[in-house]
Amino acid sequence: MPLFNVYPLYDVTPVSGKGVYVYDEKGSEYLDLYGGHAVISIGHAHPKYVEAITEQVSKLGFYSNAIQNPLQTELADKIEALSGCKDYELFLCNSGAEANENALKLASFKTGKSRVVAFKNGFHGRTSAAVAATDNKNIIAPINAQQKVTILELNDIDAVKTELEKGDVCAVIVEFIQGVGGLDQATAEFFEQVDALCKANNSMFIADEVQSGYGRSGKFFAFQHYNVTPDIISIAKGMGNGFPIGGILIHPDIEAKFGMLGTTFGGNHLACAAGLAVLNVIEEQKLIDNVNEMSDYFIKIAKTIPQLKNIKGRGLMLGLEFDFEVGELRKKLIYNHHIFTGGASNKKLLRILPPLTVRKEHVNMFFEALIEALNEVEITIA
Ligand SMILES: Cc1ncc(COP(=O)(O)O)c(C=O)c1O
Repeated sequence: MPLFNVYPLYDVTPVSGKGVYVYDEKGSEYLDLYGGHAVISIGHAHPKYVEAITEQVSKLGFYSNAIQNPLQTELADKIEALSGCKDYELFLCNSGAEANENALKLASFKTGKSRVVAFKNGFHGRTSAAVAATDNKNIIAPINAQQKVTILELNDIDAVKTELEKGDVCAVIVEFIQGVGGLDQATAEFFEQVDALCKANNSMFIADEVQSGYGRSGKFFAFQHYNVTPDIISIAKGMGNGFPIGGILIHPDIEAKFGMLGTTFGGNHLACAAGLAVLNVIEEQKLIDNVNEMSDYFIKIAKTIPQLKNIKGRGLMLGLEFDFEVGELRKKLIYNHHIFTGGASNKKLLRILPPLTVRKEHVNMFFEALIEALNEVEITIA
């Protein structure tokens, strides 16, 4: 049976990984500065992660949400301790889209309203309301287009005020650092005013931390760079280091009722074991300090590259903007230099989303390769 052909693929077949490297079937080594789309947080095949998953699956991999599962409580407590988000409650699911879907659903339950405000170039996933709140018409099917969503420009606070004061908006959903869209960030003033407007108009403020969360921004959550209190925080990607797990942190003002949300697989024993191992490693290896150190180091070197027009993002969620489309450059980096990088909706942006364990030697390897690849691209174009 052929695979449903929805992805343009690079001709590379990773079969194993270790730390910031992956290896193909011939044993060739690739430096992974893409982290499988910001997913690999503690590095490939981290021994503590492998051990925790192996031990859990040998005992009990799964049971439904109809029984006591102390691993969920342990995970919730650990997220609270590391994030500093006191008093929130945790609902567990399996992916980023599902996290946002539940966040939007909860906002609608809480407020009794149904319109969503989202932002230009935002990406929130591919399911029903999450994709409707995503600014990409190509991925919204007619069934999704039935949702009531208003897409506004980032930083246009007057527009946000106008929409929220109409009284029918259940939620404003935002990425504090845009991922797929290309690393744009609104101003602190904007985020703080949106937070205040949500509170004044009984709309839920949803922080989509699916990509920017779990330390990638240099704080546990990207919204913590600002003075805001989201009602709901969506998490996924780095949370499981590749194990499918997502969740939402829910402010206690939103009261839980039986049946409001639910899932078969979400919060299963194996997923919790993976999630706990990730948090333990982030803590023990002080990975958020490493993010800040490596980010500064990366940006310092990036500033010396003459072809570079702009450096975007924060922490280890960075974008290098050129004045040409980077598709060819990414191919040169993969095929000639064995380095994975990411693209964005902004075709001139090279995205850097490495495991949070990346070290200076890897950053140096990248820039040496980038300088060579930039020359190779010029030769190709000529
Ligand atoms: C900010 C953001 N939200 C949501 C999603 C959707 O996550 P998933 O692909 O796990 O459904 C993504 C995925 O790239 C994302 O970057």
